[in-house]
Amino acid sequence: MNPRKRYVLLLWMLVCSGGSTEAIEPISTSIAVGMAAALTGFLASYQNIFYYFNECCRPEWIAFNKTGLQVDLENKMFGQHIASRIILKAVNGFITNDNPKKPLVLSLHGWTGTGKNFVSQLIADNIYKEGMDSNFVHMFTSELHFPHSSHLDTYKSQLQQWIKGNVSNCAQSMFIFDEMDKMHPGLIDSIKPYLDYYDKLDGVSYRKAIFIFLSNAGGESITQTALDFWKAGRAREEIELKDLETLLSLAVFNNKKSGLWHTSLIDKNLVDFFVPFLPLEYRHVVQCAMAEMKARGHRPDRGVADQVAKDVVYFPKSERVFSVKGCKTIQSKLDYYL
Ligand SMILES: *[C@@H]1O[C@H](CO)[C@@H](O)[C@H](O)[C@H]1NC(C)=O
Ligand SMILES: *[C@@H]1O[C@H](CO)[C@@H](O)[C@H](O)[C@H]1NC(C)=O
Repeated sequence: MNPRKRYVLLLWMLVCSGGSTEAIEPISTSIAVGMAAALTGFLASYQNIFYYFNECCRPEWIAFNKTGLQVDLENKMFGQHIASRIILKAVNGFITNDNPKKPLVLSLHGWTGTGKNFVSQLIADNIYKEGMDSNFVHMFTSELHFPHSSHLDTYKSQLQQWIKGNVSNCAQSMFIFDEMDKMHPGLIDSIKPYLDYYDKLDGVSYRKAIFIFLSNAGGESITQTALDFWKAGRAREEIELKDLETLLSLAVFNNKKSGLWHTSLIDKNLVDFFVPFLPLEYRHVVQCAMAEMKARGHRPDRGVADQVAKDVVYFPKSERVFSVKGCKTIQSKLDYYL
């Protein structure tokens, strides 16, 4: 690294950490201390400008907007009355608690395209100014990040280092694990300590971090419940968490394929909330299409939305109530119709 770059990097670390040198690697600490003394005046006058332009682990960049999340859940996510309610309560309760005993661990379950990824994005958007682009939000996909089970040991230590490194940098880090059911049980085991009720682990506290697990596990039993309600002529909004909770944990426990559940995540109550996502109906697909048009700056056109929704495949074969891919293919279908 050339001296000027090194200087800028040090300065960045110094300013981001509010002048404290704790977070800086040992070798540079002595340099930094000297610099801190010399730069105090400079820092005092410029740090506000600096915070403004560079993402730091500070309230300028990380601040939960409850109204924002509530409005987003109402206007952008469709057909998920249970998930919306749990998520708003869970995230708000966790963030407004000054002294949480453990990190927040959410496990989102449901069929593909029902909004699990999307809601993670909404959460990120309303905590981090940079949303999913934030340096403090980390997304892992089994197939992308941990594809070969023969490299399990490497993945384990790498993942542990990443979590530790990132939480050391910023306590309010968020980790999203997609396709949790495809993740190797050993790998899940390796992150278990970070989810637990420890004050500190190797000097690092994980209690302000958020972990979100996404999986299809339990999707079938959620769908069955939704279908039962539909067949009985009952409103979908009447489905309550308790109608799904037992089913969900049973399905999740008994699903040999879903790694999460081999481990003691459930036994030890490390998961704070199981969040079910219901399969989406025709009217929700229409809502997704309308919202997408709006997001693209078009005037929402009900005719186009209906065309898109009619183009989608529904199941089960006889009733054709639920969209096979939820709202997942709406974007490309809209490209075609607009
Ligand atoms: C929070 O979200 C609401 C609704 O989206 C928005 O109007 C408001 O400006 C946001 N507040 C902050 C501090 O960003
Ligand atoms: C933080 O996590 C990312 C993966 O999202 C990783 O590439 C990076 O090295 C981690 N940072 C630290 C300091 O460990």
